[in-house]
Formats: sequence, C-alpha cells, structure tokens
Amino acid sequence: MLLDVVILAAGKGSRMHSKLPKVLHEVGGRPMLAHVFKAAESLAPNNVFTVVGHGADQIQEKLGNTHNWILQEQQLGTGHAVSQCANQLTSGGLTLILYGDVPLISADTLRRLLKEAQSHSLALLTLDIPDPTGYGRILRSEQGDILGIVEQKDATSSEKEIKEVNTGIMACSTDALTTWLPKLKNKNAQQEYYLTDIVAMAVQEGKSIVSVQPNHIFEVEGVNNRQQLALVEEYYQTQQIQSLMEQGVTFVNPKTVTIRGEVKAETDVIVDVNVVLEGSIVLGEDVYIGPNSIIKNSIVGQSSRIESNSLLEQAEIGRQCVVGPFARLRPGTKLMDQSKVGNFVEIKKSQIGVGSKVNHLSYIGDAEIGEHVNVGAGTITCNYDGVSKHKTTIDDNAFIGSNSALVAPVSIGRSATVAAGSVVTKDVPSNALVIARTRQIINEQWQRPKKVCSSELKD
Ligand code: UD1
Ligand code: CA
Repeated sequence: MLLDVVILAAGKGSRMHSKLPKVLHEVGGRPMLAHVFKAAESLAPNNVFTVVGHGADQIQEKLGNTHNWILQEQQLGTGHAVSQCANQLTSGGLTLILYGDVPLISADTLRRLLKEAQSHSLALLTLDIPDPTGYGRILRSEQGDILGIVEQKDATSSEKEIKEVNTGIMACSTDALTTWLPKLKNKNAQQEYYLTDIVAMAVQEGKSIVSVQPNHIFEVEGVNNRQQLALVEEYYQTQQIQSLMEQGVTFVNPKTVTIRGEVKAETDVIVDVNVVLEGSIVLGEDVYIGPNSIIKNSIVGQSSRIESNSLLEQAEIGRQCVVGPFARLRPGTKLMDQSKVGNFVEIKKSQIGVGSKVNHLSYIGDAEIGEHVNVGAGTITCNYDGVSKHKTTIDDNAFIGSNSALVAPVSIGRSATVAAGSVVTKDVPSNALVIARTRQIINEQWQRPKKVCSSELKD
C-alpha cells in the first residue's frame, strides 16, 4: 500500500494561552506532535508531511529537520492546509489525515481505517458522543449512507442534535483527494476552506464512503486548552501503567506514578508511590523502586532496590544492588552487582565494583572503585582542580576511613587502608596504611576560659 500521511499542525491554539506552539505542549514528557509522528511512522508510510504555520520555527527546531515540513503561511482552513502539499502526494496511493493536537491516536485504529479506505474512496473516523458541541456532525441518509459533514457553526438546530461527530481523522484515495481539493470553497460561517467538504463531493460523484470508530474514545481526544491537555495526560498515564501491569509490574498506587518515556520491565517489579520514570528505562526482575524516586534513562538489574527519594540519571545498576534512600546517581554511574550506595551519596561518572559500599554522605566523581571496597562516611574524591577533572582509582579490598579527601589524580592500592580524616595527595601502595592528617596533641594542663558573671564586673 502506497501511503502518505498529512499531519495538520498550523493552528494557533489560542485557547492554550501559551507562548509555546500548541503541538509542542507535552504529553508523557514528549511533545504532542512527537506522539503523532510515532503513530504515523508505525504505518510505514512513503511520506509524512507536517503542515505548520504558527510557531513553525520553534516546532521545527524542537523536532528536527528530518521531517517533511510544509509551511502554511495563513491558516485558511483544514482543506487549505492539506492543499499545501497536494502536489507532493503519491499518485495511486492513499492519504491519511492526522492532527498534531490529537496525540493518542493508535496505530491499530489507523490500520483499520486504512483497510476500509482501500476498498472505498473515503474512510472517516467518526464517534458517537453524548455532547457533540463544537464538532462537525456526520450527515446520513435514512438508509444510513454518509451524505456530508456540517460544522457546528454552519449547522441548523436539528443538525446540532446529531450525536455522530467527525474526529477529523480520515483516509482517502490520493488521486480523488487531489481532484477535490482545488474545488473547495470558503462560503461558510468561518470563511475557511473546510477539508470536510470533500465528503459531499465524493457523494456527488457517487463514490463510496465508509466510517470507522476508534478502539477507544481517548484516542481521538483533541487538545485545545490546558484542561484537555491534563485529561489527555491522564489517559496516557493510565494506558502506560496498564500495559506495564499486564507485563507483571506492581504499582502500589498507580495514580501517583508518572511515566515519561519507554519503560521495559521484567516480572515482579514493584513501583512504590510518587515515582517518575523518564526516558529509556530497563528494570530487571524483582526490582523495587521506593517512594519519591526519579529514574531517568537508566538500567536497574535484577533484584536491586532503589530506596526512597533517590534520583538516578543515566546510571547502570547491576544485580542485587541497594541504592538510597536519598542517593543521587548522575550520568556515567555504573554499579556492579551487589554493590551498595547509601544515603546522601552523590556519584558521577564512576564505577563501583562488585560488593563495594559507599554508604553515607560521600561524593564520588570520575572514580574507578574495585571489588569489596569500603568507602567510609564522608569520603570525597576531589576530582576538580578548578580547570580539569582528574581520576581516582581505588583497588579491590581497599578501606577508606571516614571523612577522607582523595585528591585526584590519585590511586589507592589493593587492600590498602586510608586512616579516617586523611587528605591523600599521593598514590598509596597495596596493603599499606596511610595516615595523612596532623597528629593528635594532648595538653593535660589545658584550662578552659571561664565565663565572668556580670555582677562580678567592675568599671
Ligand atoms: C475540525 C473539523 C471538524 C471536526 C474537528 C475535530 C474541519 C473543517 N472541521 O474542526 O469537523 O469535528 O476538527 O476536532 O476540518 N489547521 C491547520 N491549518 C488551518 C486550519 C487548521 O493546520 O488552516 C489544523 C489545526 O492546527 C488543528 C486541526 O487543523 O490541528 C483542526 O483545526 P481546527 O481549526 O481546530 O478545526 P475544528 O474547527 O476543530
Ligand atoms: Ca480543534
């Protein structure tokens, strides 16, 4: 099947009251238009043309120049919008019309629509709703044949009673479409070139028209204001969480979890309350994500626990690790199996070896830590000299005493011991003890200064 998709996204979206073009407002952490692209691309089309006008520069900058952008300088109606790319459509194929502000349309519904469009000249995605206000209404003969679409603003009071509405999404023969488009007139209440007028043209030519209903109502929910944006977000979240539950993930309180990306999860993952999962996430079997944690673009291995209030970004966690509570893992963090990172620990661009522990109040940056290393509370890798970043290496079985500062570049040898409170500036050989702090002084004659009472003060 030769298929072209035209996405309409030139409108202003004034009811959003925003400086951001409407189709850039996000659902599930991605611009609405990106969702529509994804649905379009899943149909393996020849071309996807996106008609932009208001905020065109901003939209193109955000979504990149790999797309086929069509500029509609003046928004003279949906028919006028499609006309802007009419001469680029593939003859002999089908054209599918999508809307940039209807982000949750599913590939499955579109495939059903396209299937019908192959055996008819025109297939409309329609919907029966209790309150059809604002939508174009589907006009049918007594026999039920589609006769046309009348817009809300042009409808008579009896036509306004019709509950079957035009979702705007339609598919038709490209050759028929390109003969209809130049014939559109703007003699209507809004003085716009309505795409919907092609329906009456098809009827006049005796062409067959068919309607298809979407799998779910939310798929055709459009966004014109912030209330609808919130509603669409809610549908999207419910959908994401449902599909993860079907894969065997437990959500302790699904309504409190937000998903902004692609989550792959093995069975028996438990996601506690108020968790945000962003970007590309992989969660292994039996992983636990504690309350108030935020995980972005990370991999968490089997049976690892992310305790409450932890923030992970581009981190790779092995199996049976424990992270948090209150841990911050920044990009480039790699925790090997059975390692442990505790509370108020920040790690950046560092590897923590198998079974090693950084349990309390530390900063580890640009470091490579071997296996079974114990990094004491308050240890800091001083990785930055004000100009460049330097590396700290800690070999297997080393023991770093509490409150030590490791001034990079520096390396601590295998099984070496760093005494608490040391400032280590030179490499430490294997098995050695380093004490790098002033010696303890004891003054037995020491007398603390005494406070003088005000009554004893004399002028
Ligand atoms: C349109 C349909 C209506 C349908 C409704 C569903 C027409 C004439 N009417 O009405 O039957 O029930 O959608 O939501 O098609 N756009 C452009 N360029 C333009 C005009 C619009 O790109 O010149 C884009 C808008 O950005 C928007 C979409 O087309 O994404 C729909 O335009 P809008 O003005 O919202 O159409 P409606 O009046 O809602
Ligand atoms: Ca609309």
